[in-house]
Amino acid sequence: MGRKRVGILISGRGSNMASLVDAAKQETCAYEIACVISNRPDAQGLQIAETAGIAAVALDHKALGTREALDAAIHDALLAHEAELVACAGFMRIMTSDFIAKWDGRMINIHPSLLPLFKGVNTHERALRAGVRVHGCSVHFISAELDAGAIIAQGVVKVMPGDDADTLAARVLPVEHRIYPAVLNALAEGRIGLENGRAVFSDNDAAGLSVLASG
Ligand code: GAR
Repeated sequence: MGRKRVGILISGRGSNMASLVDAAKQETCAYEIACVISNRPDAQGLQIAETAGIAAVALDHKALGTREALDAAIHDALLAHEAELVACAGFMRIMTSDFIAKWDGRMINIHPSLLPLFKGVNTHERALRAGVRVHGCSVHFISAELDAGAIIAQGVVKVMPGDDADTLAARVLPVEHRIYPAVLNALAEGRIGLENGRAVFSDNDAAGLSVLASG
């Protein structure tokens, strides 16, 4: 069976995108990168994709004007590059429910908190303010409600004395880079699905991709 083609959506730095790209270099990887799309033409991640020889598409949300226009352009680009799955990696635009419905069960996101805690932005600051003792990241299917789709896997790190948002983000990020390619691979292998708003798994390995980081 051929590799599943993945479109990656980004808005900035692109370190999660780079981890997905790196994993795809392995012969055993079940997915290949169809394209990288950014709503910001100056996103650092677009350069990384280009250097890696991947189709890099800039779709300026400001020039496109509306959410509907951006989502339509993204959808067209995904189809033009024959994407079968979509991975959002630091993509910071809210999507329309029409677009989300088109990719139902085939579009995932990585979010820097242990959902359902801390949906939205500034997750590390908010975790520190709330005084939680563990924090982390979640990979989830994208559904119409922001950051509320079915959770597939989570990465957990401890909150340490003296942590600020930057040190905490720096502890979570390597876990993101570990967990996201593993989830995408299992999704591409057909071992993870979405049923009645919940993630379903074909085997214990696919169900057990969560990470308890030692640091
Ligand atoms: C990552 O921490 C990702 O989890 C987060 O943005 C960062 C992007 O970094 N995503 C969100 O906040 C989505 N709402 P990257 O561009 O280096 O991958």
